[in-house]
Amino acid sequence: MLGKLGFYIVNENIIEIQFENGVGKIEFINENIVNFFSPLKYEKHFSRAVEDLKKSKVDFHVINEKNCIEIESSILRIKVYDEFKVDIYDNKGNIICEDYKYKRKPFIRRGNGKIAEGEGIKVEENFRKHKIEIVKKMLGDEYFYGFGEKTGHLNKKGYYYEMWNTDDPKPHVENYTALYKSIPFFITKRNNLSFGIFFDNTFKTYFDMGKENSEYYYFAADDGNLDYYFIYGPSIKEVVIGYTELTGKTPLPQLWTLGYHQSRWSYSPKDRVMEIAKLFREKDIPCDVIHLDIDYMDGFRVFTWDKSAFENHKKMIKDLKNMGFKVVTIIDPGVKKDRGYKIYDDGLKNGYFATDKDGIPYVNEVWPGEALYPDFTDEKVRMWWSENQRIMMEDGIAGIWNDMNEPASFKGPLPDDVQFKNDGRPTNHLEVHNVYGHLMSKATYEGIKKYTNKRPFVITRACFAGTQKYSTIWTGDNHSFWEHLRMAVPMLLNLGLSGMAFSGTDVGGFQFDATGELLSRWVQLGCFTPLFRNHSCMHTRDQEPWAFDKQTEDINRKYIKLRYKLLPYIYDLMYQAEFYGLPVMRPLILHYENDINTFELNDQFLFGENILVAPVLEQGKNVRAVYLPEGRWVDYWTKQIHEGGKYILKEAPLDICPIFIKEGSVIPNYEEQNFVGEKPNNILIIDVYPGSGEYYHYKDDGESFDYRDGKYNLYKISMQIEKILRIDISKEHDGYTDYEKIIFKFNNYDGKVLINSKEYSVKNSILEISMN
Ligand code: NOJ
Repeated sequence: MLGKLGFYIVNENIIEIQFENGVGKIEFINENIVNFFSPLKYEKHFSRAVEDLKKSKVDFHVINEKNCIEIESSILRIKVYDEFKVDIYDNKGNIICEDYKYKRKPFIRRGNGKIAEGEGIKVEENFRKHKIEIVKKMLGDEYFYGFGEKTGHLNKKGYYYEMWNTDDPKPHVENYTALYKSIPFFITKRNNLSFGIFFDNTFKTYFDMGKENSEYYYFAADDGNLDYYFIYGPSIKEVVIGYTELTGKTPLPQLWTLGYHQSRWSYSPKDRVMEIAKLFREKDIPCDVIHLDIDYMDGFRVFTWDKSAFENHKKMIKDLKNMGFKVVTIIDPGVKKDRGYKIYDDGLKNGYFATDKDGIPYVNEVWPGEALYPDFTDEKVRMWWSENQRIMMEDGIAGIWNDMNEPASFKGPLPDDVQFKNDGRPTNHLEVHNVYGHLMSKATYEGIKKYTNKRPFVITRACFAGTQKYSTIWTGDNHSFWEHLRMAVPMLLNLGLSGMAFSGTDVGGFQFDATGELLSRWVQLGCFTPLFRNHSCMHTRDQEPWAFDKQTEDINRKYIKLRYKLLPYIYDLMYQAEFYGLPVMRPLILHYENDINTFELNDQFLFGENILVAPVLEQGKNVRAVYLPEGRWVDYWTKQIHEGGKYILKEAPLDICPIFIKEGSVIPNYEEQNFVGEKPNNILIIDVYPGSGEYYHYKDDGESFDYRDGKYNLYKISMQIEKILRIDISKEHDGYTDYEKIIFKFNNYDGKVLINSKEYSVKNSILEISMN
């Protein structure tokens, strides 16, 4: 593509290389992150994912070798060859990542695909070349993770994916190469190292991880710049931290967003909403949020209310508030074509909608019938959309659910030539498609922030790399299938490795009718997914926690209550997400990357570092194999201690989700409550699993941005066990009110304990102390 290597010049952190047919730039973002760039479309970087990039000065020197240019920093050695091929070594000369120097050699698809298509068989595409293709040599020891929301297993080796935001309601199975979200990022794990590649290109992109030939893997695009970041670990954790330094961290949410959410397409009219709310309280099942799907609107006109079904909706929202409920409403991008409807009139008058190539506003069809698409690539339109959030916020709405923003369209896909302003670089749908939902979420986030001054709660279906800064996500229209319960685990784990710390699935499944058993098992998983929302499609059978029988209801209550107990622990994990970028739900490999048994664990995960969850994902199963990595693990239910480094069999009748706590952990808990704020949360219960360890607990007001001005407490809790158990609690940061009381709950321990050097004696495992 770029031809023969020519001369180079160095400008600060950038080495600019002149090739026969163009320029290639290599830039050190910091010691571990290097950007590879060629201005094939735009002169400079044009990123929707990377904002406010912090760079640090890196010392390196460049040597002109016979057939390559060699760049050496203290951590990396990069050799650049003709065609902008690059090989990257560590500072000891071990190869990390090597470009493949030959032509691609795809396997042959035999027979005539057209004939198979005649029977309705989905036939895969034949070999295709792309304008931009970066082909890396497979060195043999690779495992691949990341790619955001994809079907299939945790390890993506041998598979092919595309990034093209896709709303396809059919059951998502392994031959789906694209779903609603595009995160062109993956992690390569090799024997003793790992690195990430973030391909910052918003056009349709292609990733073949050794499917067409096991000698190489590639990523590719048909347009845009050649612009990718190489993120060296060497640990996976460092890769995730590096990637989220580039694209942003998931910000700390309001505490109530971590409670239980109940949704349905649709709770309508108002009386049904109130009935659901009352049933939660009557049945003693905690819940913080009720979601209103499209039927609350007047004829599906966004930012309006159906006045007959929701007469005096403000009062309804207030009544729900008094009962401890928040209301989240759905907002789709499609604006009904309807003269006299304010949003449409304003958008039309100001030229806020995407147009066809002749400049006429482009019309397709969604829920309201004919609809137009706001051009979120235009700053003015984002401002307008932000202002529209005021309408919902003034009504008392607590968060916004952005749906159908791939964007979905009922009359065929948006044509390639639909026009967008693209912040001064007019372009067409091909460049914008994958960031449409991302930019809509950004506008929504900024509007909610402006009008509430609280941490915004946005949920989006479509997203791009970097959306984690603005929105939580759910994985779209799954089915009430056991397959989809199983798929949820690797999908959410890979989303977490791709920067999305706050995510969840429709608990119970969206389409098809759930069974009581499936719902219970899904609630058990949902208890440990950052977003815990039960949602289902209209015309499917009811799916509220009580919708089946008493046993199902009791199990669901038990796990929803467990979730509320764990809230301070989950909040600590969200704090870690904002400060480091680490996910809440973690594949075991993130903490045990030298243990080969963790590399392909698809059906269990860590919830933070200390809780191991092995949900039951098959109908009728009441026992399962659980892999416990090195260390000692305490069965949460029986308190039995297991040596790690092996598989165990765990009995798991329907009311048991296998949970193990790492010895030496302290897990902060709150008292039982029906919703966040019902109790003042001034008592901290510390669930102690005696051993040696260290834990950081974070506390703030749970809703405002004051913590960014230092108004928070960070407690360090260290524990040692020798002859006697010793716990020390200190404050690493002191900027908020303290707990009034701490209750220690000891597991497998009775006797003397030293707390901050004072001796207490533990009886019946409980010890209460006041904080002052
Ligand atoms: C599609 C969404 O994925 C689903 O969650 C929602 O219920 C329907 N649209 C109706 O708004």
